Amino acid sequence: MATKAFVEGSRPGASFRRVYVWEFPVRLYHWVNALSVVVLCVTGYLIGKPLAITYSSEAYQQYWFGTVRFLHFVTAFVFFFNFLVRIYWGFVGNAYARWTNFIPTKPAQWREMVKVLKLDILQAHGQRLITIGHNALAGVIYFLSFLAFLFQSLTGFALYSSMSHSWLPRMFAWITPIMGGDFAVRQWHHVFMWFFILFVLVHVYLVFYHDYIEGRGTTSSMVGGWKFDSEKHDE
Ligand code: HEM
Repeated sequence: MATKAFVEGSRPGASFRRVYVWEFPVRLYHWVNALSVVVLCVTGYLIGKPLAITYSSEAYQQYWFGTVRFLHFVTAFVFFFNFLVRIYWGFVGNAYARWTNFIPTKPAQWREMVKVLKLDILQAHGQRLITIGHNALAGVIYFLSFLAFLFQSLTGFALYSSMSHSWLPRMFAWITPIMGGDFAVRQWHHVFMWFFILFVLVHVYLVFYHDYIEGRGTTSSMVGGWKFDSEKHDE
């Protein structure tokens, strides 16, 4: 459906087309993942560096740390299954959701990555780049973040396997000895939390930055699914 719109830097009166980019499962995955990562970082940080709260009551009469751990574990399951759904959707979703967007196999994707670096880091003028789905660099970064999700799930469930008799965490018990024991797994699990914190900061900044320079609804696209395009692209 064509829509009349005007954005700074474009021809006044230019005709814009709505493109349905992010399907409902992708949007749902995105927001469930965002919320889970925030909860996991906050509760994980507290588990690694517990608050020294003094109470007048006896230790056995309070359970705040238990609640923090419980929240971490429940959210971890949500995070993990949500991630599995996204992996599946990479095979059956629309052209913008598929795995081909995440792994740069064509020379054009590498050229686009250089362009995006010039635009995002050097803020080079005249590097106007319009992509409808992810740009090639964002795709690679998301692929690396999927690897980080996998690593955090593997180390998390490996740690959990020593606290649970349930079959799912027990499936990951073999990871602890090959990574050098509980202490090492916990250290790696902690270090990766900082990757997530850094990722969220840079990701949110870039979404707003691209929204500002492109004026095509980058931010709202993850709510409604639509972006705007002044050229012909296949849907
Ligand atoms: C974004 C994802 C996640 C982040 C940022 C995160 C972060 C953390 C952090 C920082 C710690 C404390 C480590 C320390 O310093 O001692 C921790 C502990 C732990 N995490 Fe995660 N975590 C995530 C996902 C998961 C997943 C998927 C599981 C799977 C069950 C999990 C299970 C655990 C367990 C069992 C502990 C140890 C709890 C304890 O010993 O009391 N985490 N997490």
